[in-house]
Amino acid sequence: FPSFDYRNGRLYGESVQLDRIAREFGTPCYVYSRAALVAAYREFDAAFGGRDHLVCYAVKANSNLAILNLLARLGSGFDIVSGGELQRVLKAGGDPQKVVFSGVGKQPDEMRAALAAGIFCFNVESEAELAVLDRVAGELNKIAPVSLRVNPDVDAKTHPYISTGLKENKFGVPFEEAEKLYASAREFANLRISGLDCHIGSQLTKLGPFVEACGKILGLLIRLETLGFTIDHLDLGGGLGIRYLGENPPAAKDYVTALCAAIGPRNQRILIEPGRALVGNAGVLLTRVEYLKHTPHRDFAIVDAAMNDLMRPALYDAYHEILPVIANGGDEKIYQIVGPVCETGDFLGHDRKLALSQGDLLAIMSAGAYGMSMSSNYNTRPRAAEVMVDGDHVHLIRQRESLEQLLAGEKMLP
Ligand code: LLP
Repeated sequence: FPSFDYRNGRLYGESVQLDRIAREFGTPCYVYSRAALVAAYREFDAAFGGRDHLVCYAVKANSNLAILNLLARLGSGFDIVSGGELQRVLKAGGDPQKVVFSGVGKQPDEMRAALAAGIFCFNVESEAELAVLDRVAGELNKIAPVSLRVNPDVDAKTHPYISTGLKENKFGVPFEEAEKLYASAREFANLRISGLDCHIGSQLTKLGPFVEACGKILGLLIRLETLGFTIDHLDLGGGLGIRYLGENPPAAKDYVTALCAAIGPRNQRILIEPGRALVGNAGVLLTRVEYLKHTPHRDFAIVDAAMNDLMRPALYDAYHEILPVIANGGDEKIYQIVGPVCETGDFLGHDRKLALSQGDLLAIMSAGAYGMSMSSNYNTRPRAAEVMVDGDHVHLIRQRESLEQLLAGEKMLP
């Protein structure tokens, strides 16, 4: 894990001992590394060399303002899927001209806000959405820049819940209808066709499906140009996987090189929308062992983080490595690492060989992406704190939620 490693038996984030962070900020607590984030962004960005490109970070992976701001300062663009994410990007100092707006269910209000901000492009996912966007743009006297998100019907070979580019998925417009829809888009007075977009899924660990999708997109691009459409940019989506356990995903550099090679020498600017590959391994979730519970059948470590803090294990049966913050070398047992939430699905890891005592700290690794951003208040659990380490500094980037904040919006009947 870049930026998270052991020194003298203690786990560090950059130059800071994670046990120090737990003492200072409490647990559960998300810890991110600035250096890891910056390095990941730079690897994507640099891989394009002199080619016209824009890296649009997929905000849904982790939308903390400090992270968005850090990426904005590096020149990153953003892929958003809601008006809320737009507001975050603007507040974090993101450049609206580098924002693309994806998603199958954009609401007129969200379109209005994005048009007012002057975003780079709407990734439109249906014919019905074209009509609504045209109407909203007309009301504001604006011309909306649009790409159609086409569904290239490529098997991303990833978890079915996060595979998006198969023809039976809800995403994008069917590949074989794309030309027809570009033709209808051209008829709307308040739309300007600007690009072509696709995204086939998440946590892909092989280049094959990306290259296959690029081939289909390139073929479509050539047909569209023959039909007289001007396409300024190709948005090739996100989806590059990271290592959670033994996976061997391509490096960002090789991924970008493969995309560029598959598209070949063309004038279009190339956009990508990486989320997980930028933040996933730049973050861990710190948690403390509350109780050890030994039954005749299993040994449980009940920790203070739960499925509401990190939903991926419960939702996808996802694997996150779990490491002791202080390696104490006692007697190892096979533990079920579970949270306090009242559900059997509330686990963070099954069958982990660890030497544990009550009060020990654990780091749940690779938790920077789709961790905090998918968290909830289930069981009326306030959301965790988030901190960012930077060399030997620690910055609190989100306060632990208080119970007052959690209840603030609720009202009893008169
Ligand atoms: N662009 C679009 C249109 C997307 O739908 C997504 C992710 C991305 C980009 C970024 O994909 P990434 O580079 O992060 O793979 N909650 C799941 C992942 C859901 C991904 C949804 N879309 C998880 O925890 O694995």
